[in-house]
Amino acid sequence: MPVHYVTYKGIKFPPAYNSEHSLSFAHNEFLVRDDDVFNVTYPKSGTVWMTEILSLIRSRGHPSWSQTILNSDRMPWFSTRLGLEAALSYPSPRLLTCHLPRHIFPKSFSHSTAKVIYTLRDPRDVVVSYYYFSKMSNPIKPWQDLTHAPAAFCLPSVPHGSWFEHVQGWMEMKDQENFFFITYEELKQDLQGSVRRICQFLGQDLDDAAVSSVVRNASFSAMRENPMCSSVLLPADIMDQTKGQFLRKGICGDWRNHFTVTQSETFDRIYQDRMQGLNMAFPWDR
Ligand code: A3P
Repeated sequence: MPVHYVTYKGIKFPPAYNSEHSLSFAHNEFLVRDDDVFNVTYPKSGTVWMTEILSLIRSRGHPSWSQTILNSDRMPWFSTRLGLEAALSYPSPRLLTCHLPRHIFPKSFSHSTAKVIYTLRDPRDVVVSYYYFSKMSNPIKPWQDLTHAPAAFCLPSVPHGSWFEHVQGWMEMKDQENFFFITYEELKQDLQGSVRRICQFLGQDLDDAAVSSVVRNASFSAMRENPMCSSVLLPADIMDQTKGQFLRKGICGDWRNHFTVTQSETFDRIYQDRMQGLNMAFPWDR
Protein backbone atom coordinates (compact mmCIF):
# COMPACT_ATOMS: atom_id res chain seq x y z
CA MET A 1 0.00 0.00 0.00
CA PRO A 2 1.45 3.39 -0.94
CA VAL A 3 2.06 5.75 1.97
CA HIS A 4 0.90 9.33 1.45
CA TYR A 5 3.16 11.30 3.70
CA VAL A 6 2.14 14.58 5.29
CA THR A 7 4.44 17.31 4.02
CA TYR A 8 5.28 20.37 6.08
CA LYS A 9 7.84 22.95 4.90
CA GLY A 10 9.08 20.43 2.36
CA ILE A 11 9.65 17.64 4.91
CA LYS A 12 7.73 14.37 4.80
CA PHE A 13 6.18 12.97 7.98
CA PRO A 14 4.32 9.65 8.52
CA PRO A 15 0.57 10.33 8.14
CA ALA A 16 -0.61 8.03 10.94
CA TYR A 17 0.54 10.41 13.67
CA ASN A 18 1.10 13.74 11.96
CA SER A 19 -1.10 16.26 10.25
CA GLU A 20 -0.23 19.52 8.60
CA HIS A 21 -2.23 21.22 11.33
CA SER A 22 -0.36 19.56 14.21
CA LEU A 23 3.02 20.36 12.64
CA SER A 24 2.07 23.92 11.81
CA PHE A 25 0.58 24.45 15.28
CA ALA A 26 3.73 23.05 16.91
CA HIS A 27 5.87 25.34 14.82
CA ASN A 28 3.89 28.58 14.94
CA GLU A 29 1.54 28.53 17.90
CA PHE A 30 2.78 26.08 20.49
CA LEU A 31 3.68 28.01 23.62
CA VAL A 32 6.88 26.72 25.13
CA ARG A 33 7.03 27.08 28.91
CA ASP A 34 10.28 28.02 30.60
CA ASP A 35 10.37 24.79 32.58
CA ASP A 36 9.73 22.49 29.58
CA VAL A 37 12.32 19.80 28.86
CA PHE A 38 12.45 18.53 25.28
CA ASN A 39 13.79 15.17 24.14
CA VAL A 40 14.76 15.80 20.51
CA THR A 41 16.19 13.24 18.10
CA TYR A 42 16.33 12.12 14.52
CA PRO A 43 14.37 8.82 14.32
CA LYS A 44 16.18 5.65 15.44
CA SER A 45 18.77 7.53 17.44
CA GLY A 46 17.66 6.50 20.93
CA THR A 47 14.49 8.55 21.42
CA VAL A 48 12.65 6.01 23.52
CA TRP A 49 15.78 5.30 25.52
CA MET A 50 16.07 8.98 26.40
CA THR A 51 12.38 9.03 27.30
CA GLU A 52 13.04 6.32 29.89
CA ILE A 53 16.12 8.10 31.21
CA LEU A 54 14.33 11.44 31.57
CA SER A 55 11.20 9.88 33.10
CA LEU A 56 13.30 7.99 35.62
CA ILE A 57 15.28 11.11 36.49
CA ARG A 58 12.02 13.02 36.92
CA SER A 59 10.73 10.30 39.30
CA ARG A 60 14.09 10.34 41.12
CA GLY A 61 14.84 6.76 40.15
CA HIS A 62 11.50 5.32 41.31
CA PRO A 63 10.38 3.07 38.45
CA SER A 64 6.62 3.02 39.13
CA TRP A 65 5.82 5.93 36.76
CA SER A 66 7.75 4.31 33.90
CA GLN A 67 6.25 0.93 34.62
CA THR A 68 2.61 2.00 34.74
CA ILE A 69 2.23 4.86 32.25
CA LEU A 70 2.93 4.62 28.51
CA ASN A 71 6.06 6.49 27.45
CA SER A 72 4.05 8.58 24.98
CA ASP A 73 1.88 9.79 27.88
CA ARG A 74 4.88 10.51 30.09
CA MET A 75 6.57 12.55 27.34
CA PRO A 76 3.99 13.53 24.71
CA TRP A 77 4.95 13.89 21.06
CA PHE A 78 3.67 17.45 20.95
CA SER A 79 3.91 17.91 17.16
CA THR A 80 1.66 14.93 16.42
CA ARG A 81 -2.15 14.86 16.33
CA LEU A 82 -2.68 12.97 19.58
CA GLY A 83 0.43 14.22 21.32
CA LEU A 84 -0.54 17.85 20.83
CA GLU A 85 -3.68 17.47 22.95
CA ALA A 86 -1.71 15.65 25.63
CA ALA A 87 1.01 18.30 25.66
CA LEU A 88 -1.45 21.17 25.98
CA SER A 89 -3.13 19.64 29.03
CA TYR A 90 0.11 18.42 30.64
CA PRO A 91 0.80 20.17 33.94
CA SER A 92 4.17 21.90 34.28
CA PRO A 93 6.97 21.02 34.34
CA ARG A 94 6.48 19.17 31.07
CA LEU A 95 8.62 16.49 29.45
CA LEU A 96 8.09 16.54 25.67
CA THR A 97 9.40 14.57 22.70
CA CYS A 98 9.83 15.22 18.99
CA HIS A 99 11.84 14.47 15.87
CA LEU A 100 11.51 18.04 14.58
CA PRO A 101 14.38 19.69 12.79
CA ARG A 102 15.50 22.95 14.41
CA HIS A 103 13.93 25.20 11.77
CA ILE A 104 10.40 23.93 12.42
CA PHE A 105 10.73 23.61 16.20
CA PRO A 106 8.31 25.93 18.09
CA LYS A 107 9.12 29.56 17.40
CA SER A 108 8.35 30.45 21.02
CA PHE A 109 11.33 28.35 22.14
CA SER A 110 13.70 31.17 21.14
CA HIS A 111 12.27 33.42 23.87
CA SER A 112 12.27 30.78 26.59
CA THR A 113 14.68 29.12 28.98
CA ALA A 114 13.23 25.67 28.20
CA LYS A 115 15.84 22.94 27.86
CA VAL A 116 16.57 20.66 24.92
CA ILE A 117 18.39 17.34 25.14
CA TYR A 118 19.44 16.23 21.69
CA THR A 119 20.56 12.63 21.16
CA LEU A 120 22.35 11.63 18.00
CA ARG A 121 23.70 8.33 16.75
CA ASP A 122 26.10 7.00 14.13
CA PRO A 123 24.00 7.56 10.98
CA ARG A 124 25.03 4.15 9.61
CA ASP A 125 23.39 2.50 12.63
CA VAL A 126 20.40 4.80 12.14
CA VAL A 127 20.08 3.43 8.60
CA VAL A 128 20.13 -0.19 9.80
CA SER A 129 17.76 0.44 12.70
CA TYR A 130 15.41 2.35 10.38
CA TYR A 131 15.51 -0.47 7.83
CA TYR A 132 14.23 -3.01 10.36
CA PHE A 133 11.81 -0.53 11.92
CA SER A 134 10.29 0.26 8.51
CA LYS A 135 9.35 -3.40 8.12
CA MET A 136 7.29 -3.49 11.31
CA SER A 137 6.00 0.09 11.37
CA ASN A 138 3.03 0.30 9.02
CA PRO A 139 2.87 4.12 8.82
CA ILE A 140 6.28 4.08 7.13
CA LYS A 141 7.04 2.84 3.63
CA PRO A 142 9.39 -0.13 4.15
CA TRP A 143 12.77 -0.22 2.51
CA GLN A 144 12.55 -3.46 0.53
CA ASP A 145 16.19 -4.34 1.01
CA LEU A 146 19.33 -2.77 2.30
CA THR A 147 21.00 -2.43 -1.09
CA HIS A 148 19.71 1.06 -1.70
CA ALA A 149 19.04 2.05 1.91
CA PRO A 150 22.25 4.00 2.63
CA ALA A 151 21.84 6.02 -0.58
CA ALA A 152 18.09 6.52 0.01
CA PHE A 153 18.86 7.73 3.53
CA CYS A 154 21.05 10.50 2.13
CA LEU A 155 18.29 11.89 -0.08
CA PRO A 156 16.52 15.02 1.16
CA SER A 157 13.19 13.30 0.47
CA VAL A 158 13.68 10.79 3.30
CA PRO A 159 10.84 10.91 5.89
CA HIS A 160 11.62 13.39 8.70
CA GLY A 161 14.08 15.15 6.39
CA SER A 162 17.81 14.85 6.00
CA TRP A 163 19.82 13.49 8.94
CA PHE A 164 22.66 15.83 7.98
CA GLU A 165 20.46 18.91 8.11
CA HIS A 166 18.82 17.76 11.32
CA VAL A 167 22.16 17.39 13.07
CA GLN A 168 23.61 20.58 11.63
CA GLY A 169 20.52 22.60 12.51
CA TRP A 170 20.53 21.49 16.13
CA MET A 171 24.28 21.73 16.53
CA GLU A 172 24.03 25.45 15.88
CA MET A 173 22.76 25.55 19.47
CA LYS A 174 25.66 23.62 20.94
CA ASP A 175 27.08 26.54 22.91
CA GLN A 176 23.78 27.65 24.42
CA GLU A 177 23.29 26.83 28.05
CA ASN A 178 19.77 25.45 27.62
CA PHE A 179 21.00 22.91 25.04
CA PHE A 180 22.66 19.60 25.82
CA PHE A 181 23.67 16.98 23.28
CA ILE A 182 24.75 13.43 23.81
CA THR A 183 25.38 10.47 21.54
CA TYR A 184 23.82 7.03 21.64
CA GLU A 185 27.38 5.74 21.72
CA GLU A 186 28.15 7.68 24.93
CA LEU A 187 24.99 6.32 26.53
CA LYS A 188 26.10 2.81 25.61
CA GLN A 189 29.63 3.30 26.81
CA ASP A 190 28.86 4.91 30.14
CA LEU A 191 25.19 5.12 31.04
CA GLN A 192 25.86 6.02 34.65
CA GLY A 193 28.19 8.89 33.75
CA SER A 194 25.73 10.03 31.07
CA VAL A 195 22.84 10.03 33.54
CA ARG A 196 24.91 12.14 35.95
CA ARG A 197 25.70 14.64 33.18
CA ILE A 198 22.03 14.85 32.20
CA CYS A 199 21.05 15.37 35.86
CA GLN A 200 23.57 18.18 36.11
CA PHE A 201 22.19 19.84 32.99
CA LEU A 202 18.66 19.56 34.38
CA GLY A 203 19.67 20.77 37.82
CA GLN A 204 18.40 17.51 39.35
CA ASP A 205 20.35 16.37 42.35
CA LEU A 206 19.97 12.57 42.50
CA ASP A 207 21.83 10.47 45.07
CA ASP A 208 23.85 7.40 44.08
CA ALA A 209 21.01 4.95 44.72
CA ALA A 210 18.64 6.98 42.52
CA VAL A 211 21.19 7.20 39.70
CA SER A 212 21.76 3.43 39.92
CA SER A 213 18.05 2.85 39.69
CA VAL A 214 17.80 5.07 36.58
CA VAL A 215 20.64 3.09 35.00
CA ARG A 216 19.09 -0.26 35.93
CA ASN A 217 15.60 0.58 34.70
CA ALA A 218 16.81 2.24 31.50
CA SER A 219 18.95 -0.74 30.53
CA PHE A 220 18.11 -2.50 27.29
CA SER A 221 16.99 -5.65 29.10
CA ALA A 222 14.79 -3.79 31.60
CA MET A 223 13.19 -1.76 28.82
CA ARG A 224 12.46 -4.89 26.81
CA GLU A 225 10.63 -6.26 29.84
CA ASN A 226 8.61 -3.06 30.28
CA PRO A 227 5.50 -3.00 28.04
CA MET A 228 5.14 0.75 28.74
CA CYS A 229 8.14 1.44 26.53
CA SER A 230 8.78 -1.67 24.44
CA SER A 231 5.95 -0.80 22.01
CA VAL A 232 4.22 -4.20 22.42
CA LEU A 233 1.00 -2.43 23.43
CA LEU A 234 0.77 -0.47 20.18
CA PRO A 235 -1.94 -1.66 17.78
CA ALA A 236 -0.77 -3.93 14.96
CA ASP A 237 -1.66 -1.36 12.29
CA ILE A 238 0.95 0.92 13.85
CA MET A 239 3.58 -1.61 14.92
CA ASP A 240 3.38 -5.18 13.69
CA GLN A 241 5.15 -7.23 16.36
CA THR A 242 5.19 -10.29 14.09
CA LYS A 243 7.64 -8.50 11.81
CA GLY A 244 10.26 -7.53 14.35
CA GLN A 245 10.96 -5.94 17.69
CA PHE A 246 11.14 -2.21 18.33
CA LEU A 247 13.89 -2.78 20.90
CA ARG A 248 15.80 -4.79 18.33
CA LYS A 249 19.50 -5.15 19.18
CA GLY A 250 20.51 -2.01 21.03
CA ILE A 251 24.16 -2.09 20.02
CA CYS A 252 26.72 0.19 18.37
CA GLY A 253 28.23 -0.66 15.01
CA ASP A 254 25.59 -3.05 13.68
CA TRP A 255 26.08 -1.33 10.31
CA ARG A 256 29.25 -3.42 9.96
CA ASN A 257 27.05 -6.50 9.70
CA HIS A 258 24.95 -4.91 6.96
CA PHE A 259 26.91 -2.48 4.79
CA THR A 260 29.04 -3.80 1.93
CA VAL A 261 32.50 -2.28 1.45
CA THR A 262 31.19 -0.24 -1.48
CA GLN A 263 28.20 1.02 0.50
CA SER A 264 30.45 1.95 3.37
CA GLU A 265 32.86 3.85 1.13
CA THR A 266 30.07 5.66 -0.67
CA PHE A 267 28.42 6.60 2.60
CA ASP A 268 31.74 7.84 4.01
CA ARG A 269 32.23 10.12 1.01
CA ILE A 270 28.76 11.60 1.36
CA TYR A 271 29.24 11.95 5.12
CA GLN A 272 32.59 13.76 4.78
CA ASP A 273 31.17 16.08 2.20
CA ARG A 274 27.96 16.90 4.08
CA MET A 275 29.55 17.24 7.53
CA GLN A 276 32.69 19.18 6.71
CA GLY A 277 31.24 22.55 7.68
CA LEU A 278 30.37 21.36 11.18
CA ASN A 279 33.88 21.02 12.53
CA MET A 280 32.95 18.56 15.26
CA ALA A 281 34.08 15.00 15.97
CA PHE A 282 31.63 12.36 17.11
CA PRO A 283 32.49 8.95 18.63
CA TRP A 284 32.01 7.20 15.26
CA ASP A 285 34.49 9.58 13.58
CA ARG A 286 37.39 8.30 15.67
P1 A3P B 1 18.25 -0.87 17.13
O1 A3P B 1 17.19 -0.98 16.08
O2 A3P B 1 19.62 -0.67 16.53
O3 A3P B 1 18.23 -1.99 18.11
P2 A3P B 1 14.32 5.34 18.57
O4 A3P B 1 13.74 5.22 19.94
O5 A3P B 1 14.91 6.68 18.27
O6 A3P B 1 13.34 4.87 17.54
O7 A3P B 1 15.58 4.37 18.51
C1 A3P B 1 15.41 2.97 18.55
C2 A3P B 1 16.78 2.33 18.71
O8 A3P B 1 17.25 2.58 20.05
C3 A3P B 1 16.72 0.82 18.51
O9 A3P B 1 17.99 0.46 17.96
C4 A3P B 1 16.59 0.37 19.96
O10 A3P B 1 16.93 -0.98 20.18
C5 A3P B 1 17.56 1.33 20.65
N1 A3P B 1 17.38 1.40 22.11
C6 A3P B 1 16.27 1.71 22.80
N2 A3P B 1 16.48 1.59 24.13
C7 A3P B 1 17.76 1.18 24.28
C8 A3P B 1 18.58 0.86 25.42
N3 A3P B 1 18.13 0.91 26.66
N4 A3P B 1 19.86 0.48 25.18
C9 A3P B 1 20.34 0.42 23.92
N5 A3P B 1 19.61 0.70 22.81
C10 A3P B 1 18.34 1.07 22.99
